[in-house]
Amino acid sequence: MEDMTPRTADGKVLWHFTMSLDGFVAGPGHSMDWMRGIDDTGERDIIAEYVETTGAILGGRDGWDAFPDAEGVYGGRWSGPAFVLTHHPEDAAPSPGVTFLDCDVAEAVQIALDAAGGKNVEVLSASIGTQLLERGLLDEIDIHLAPVLLGDGIRLYDVPGSRPVPLTLVNGEAGRVEVPLRYRPSAW
Ligand SMILES: NC(=O)c1ccc[n+]([C@@H]2O[C@H](COP(=O)([O-])OP(=O)(O)OC[C@H]3O[C@@H](n4cnc5c(N)ncnc54)[C@H](OP(=O)(O)O)[C@@H]3O)[C@@H](O)[C@H]2O)c1
Repeated sequence: MEDMTPRTADGKVLWHFTMSLDGFVAGPGHSMDWMRGIDDTGERDIIAEYVETTGAILGGRDGWDAFPDAEGVYGGRWSGPAFVLTHHPEDAAPSPGVTFLDCDVAEAVQIALDAAGGKNVEVLSASIGTQLLERGLLDEIDIHLAPVLLGDGIRLYDVPGSRPVPLTLVNGEAGRVEVPLRYRPSAW
């Protein structure tokens, strides 16, 4: 399969996650230690593409409370406006560049798009991405599949009783295609 088509900065709303093979974006208790030791760039500096093309980020309160540091996005390589959606902004500690929003998810994503200045909005939240998907407000899903099984944690898409959501691959062999992957269990 071809490598990921370079990401462009064109005002899209993206769900962007590193995800375990079994569909988790965080472990139990929002743990992220499972990412250690995973080569996230390969020969190409994919992070640089996202740093360059991301104009704003939108997250949720649980992810923020677990990692309240917008300056750590992309290892500190990205900086820009960050928005955190919460029903109780009044008890969030102020943080530079971070705006806590208590509004409809559609309004929140429009605020982030306005702040992104034509670049993309990255939705770094499973729950908000799910809401945007249901509202038809998510443009693309960028997944970096991590070579690990977690078995428990925060799922990318956790909607009991959901109907299947069909997706079209837009990089590599575009279409409604399977992507062949082959793994073997290994030591840490
Ligand atoms: N794997 C990766 O690449 C990656 C990247 C970034 C983050 N993460 C992780 O992904 C996980 C995301 O967690 P999550 O998606 O379960 O939680 P989340 O979206 O971070 O937090 C959920 C909370 O956000 C608030 N919220 C969500 N929708 C709202 C709405 N429409 N209006 C008002 N408030 C709203 C609510 O908080 P209140 O009700 O308390 O206000 C809700 O309980 C985190 O652990 C994060 O660290 C992973």
